[in-house]
Amino acid sequence: MHTSGPPAADSRSVVPQDEPTGWWRDAVIYQIYIRSFADSNGDGIGDLQGIRSRLGYLAGLGVDALWINPFYPSPQVDCGYDVADYRDIDPAYGTLSDFKELLQDAHAHGLRLIIDIVPNHTSSQHPWFTEALAAAPGSEARDRYHFHPGKGEGGNLPPNGWQSAFGGGPAWTRVTDDSGRPGQWYLHLFTPEQPDLNWENPEVRADFEKTLRFWLDLGVDGFRIDVANAMIKAPGYPEMVDGPDPDDGSSPCWDRDDVHHIHRSWRHVLDSYPGERIAVAEAWVPTVQRLAMYLRPDELHQAFNFDYLKAEWSAPQLHRIISDSVTGLGAVGAPATWVLSNHDVVRHLTRFGGGTVGLRRARAAALLMLALPGSAYVYQGDELGLPEVTELPDDARQDPVWLRSGGANPGRDGCRVPLPWAGRNASYGFGPAHSDRSWLPQPTSWADLTVEKQEADPGSMLSLYTQALKLRRGLPRADDGTLEWTDTSAPDSGLLVFRRPGGFICTVNFGPQDIEIERPGDLLLSSSPIDGTSPRPLLRADTTAWWSDERGDTRTQQ
Ligand code: NOJ
Repeated sequence: MHTSGPPAADSRSVVPQDEPTGWWRDAVIYQIYIRSFADSNGDGIGDLQGIRSRLGYLAGLGVDALWINPFYPSPQVDCGYDVADYRDIDPAYGTLSDFKELLQDAHAHGLRLIIDIVPNHTSSQHPWFTEALAAAPGSEARDRYHFHPGKGEGGNLPPNGWQSAFGGGPAWTRVTDDSGRPGQWYLHLFTPEQPDLNWENPEVRADFEKTLRFWLDLGVDGFRIDVANAMIKAPGYPEMVDGPDPDDGSSPCWDRDDVHHIHRSWRHVLDSYPGERIAVAEAWVPTVQRLAMYLRPDELHQAFNFDYLKAEWSAPQLHRIISDSVTGLGAVGAPATWVLSNHDVVRHLTRFGGGTVGLRRARAAALLMLALPGSAYVYQGDELGLPEVTELPDDARQDPVWLRSGGANPGRDGCRVPLPWAGRNASYGFGPAHSDRSWLPQPTSWADLTVEKQEADPGSMLSLYTQALKLRRGLPRADDGTLEWTDTSAPDSGLLVFRRPGGFICTVNFGPQDIEIERPGDLLLSSSPIDGTSPRPLLRADTTAWWSDERGDTRTQQ
């Protein structure tokens, strides 16, 4: 296990801080998928003590904060996004005292800690839902969820045609009443084991505020809000209109305007604590303008940039998305965020072509993302250049997306395979030395991608991330979102060049040709070899290079 101590203090490493620093405006936040990060007890499942044992690695990597996916008691139908108790820890992951130890040690390492909160739905094993099932239609217990009579003869049809976002049929399931006869239907935008909460119910609102305060009192630095755009449903459950999601708040269940009241009230809670506690929205919305609404000054701090996440490795696409994000979010004073992968999507190395092409592009994409102004999210394993695991055996797969599609959709297990840390034997250091267990099997090729191996290789992906993060810390902060495209940028020819205040310049060649550029300054770092001394260096295809402008030019424009 890694044992390096806390990093030397710098302006961002003392946690928590009393003076407002806007730390989150340009923070690099590392996403930990707890089940797959590090397993301390050899049961094949990652856990809190596993994370704690790797804090030295994370601090050494140079990230500012950690976001941990849900660790609450859960039947794990959707890998923890089905929460049975919001104020405790699932025994598979540890205990509350493990959490307290982790939080304390993370802070001692200069790392802030953000946790996941799942307000749109509970687990069907949450005591509220058990109570609702046992209660009569129209009861207070049922009012915490969305229970409704069915349509058609005998109420045999769901109340409307909404479909589960995970496929596999309607977003409604019928329950059986006391006498054993079919009764009302309840809403679940995801699996039937994830009933949607009714956020018009004051008890639901009050209980979530209690949950926020519970974790804030323990000292967490913020929350990642799951499905932050779906908590409000239109009265009467009108049908969806066919076509793309509307961008005017008129969808009956996604991105309704009233959801902002909830986020405002949460911001109020966050602001009542010292130390800049933050919230980041997971909100899949149709436009950057709709996203910006979540980031108005009295709402949330950040939102994931899914346009960036979905983009291909394409200069025109990324040029447009970067410009729109910086401008659109800047309009409400919010920093942009950047993300390449997470636990819900195919890993970007594979999306960008896989193999050596994918690797080259993933290296270039890492330097591009970390050069942009604002905050960046690194998903565990990005820094190791892990590909998507496409060859998982069917009986190992656990994602409800896979199960509900009858195997037609491979689902998300391929990006959730446990990390390889060291050695050549299963489970590559994911668990303790005696353990070969790993809840999803790791490919044998991952023996060459372990942290141990990559730490010893200056040319590895891990070394690239470590160098980039270190350099980034030395650059003038880019928390105000300023970026200027230079006139040498030529998106249609695959070349993007931008500068940031303080004379930092980033050049990206998206290929397919190598491009000779005019050397913009002193070479700081590049994702593939480049002659930094030549007046006209060759920027190879799929390469990003960072430069420092010796003129110290600080002209800016958005
Ligand atoms: C988004 C989460 O990232 C995903 O993993 C989960 O399945 C859904 N929300 C439902 O909670």
